[in-house]
Amino acid sequence: MNSDLFKIEALTVKDAPFLTVLQKESPGRPWSLGETKQMLEDSTIQGWGIRKKTELFGFILIQKTLESVDILDFVVEKSVRRQGAGQRLYDCCECMCKKDQIKEIFLEVAASNHPALSFYHKQGFINIGIRPLYYTSPSGKEDSFLMKKNNNSWMKIDFIC
Ligand SMILES: CC(C)(COP(=O)(O)OP(=O)(O)OC[C@H]1O[C@@H](n2cnc3c(N)ncnc32)[C@H](O)[C@@H]1OP(=O)(O)O)[C@@H](O)C(=O)NCCC(=O)NCCS
Repeated sequence: MNSDLFKIEALTVKDAPFLTVLQKESPGRPWSLGETKQMLEDSTIQGWGIRKKTELFGFILIQKTLESVDILDFVVEKSVRRQGAGQRLYDCCECMCKKDQIKEIFLEVAASNHPALSFYHKQGFINIGIRPLYYTSPSGKEDSFLMKKNNNSWMKIDFIC
């Protein structure tokens, strides 16, 4: 992916309509526009979007407590997957964690979501639990994995976002 052609910026409430559309590509429950706006206005929630010109084609949204971060959702538009956009977005999250001395990142992912599982394993996440039949998918209910990554394996680079 040619980095001259895209930029990564912090999300604002103006991004809510684009986020709502993109988020439908995630296997989880779809978010309404109102719900998305509310999340973007919440001071504990922050995120980054990747765009070409004005068009948003990926985002990561996280919720922060004093010492930990939860990834709420993370999506790259289907046609541009596997070109490094997800990695760039995730790196912004981890940079912030490093800067703010966060200790752990947590997330939940459907057990059949092999691309996401492969992505998170590459980042050094480990499975810490299973929630039986937690996700509703078109083929019915399915298990989800809880995963976490500790600060002892944060990336080496200092600040990129
Ligand atoms: C998960 C997701 C955001 C990754 O975005 P992406 O832009 O495709 O990821 P990248 O191109 O940066 O991939 C980085 C690495 O992750 C792994 N990976 C990503 N997609 C993969 C796939 N389909 N199969 C196997 N490994 C994959 C690879 O190790 C890849 O590195 P490589 O291409 O050098 O082998 C994207 O697949 C997506 O939007 N999925 C649908 C939404 C979703 O499931 N979100 C997760 C919710 S918990």
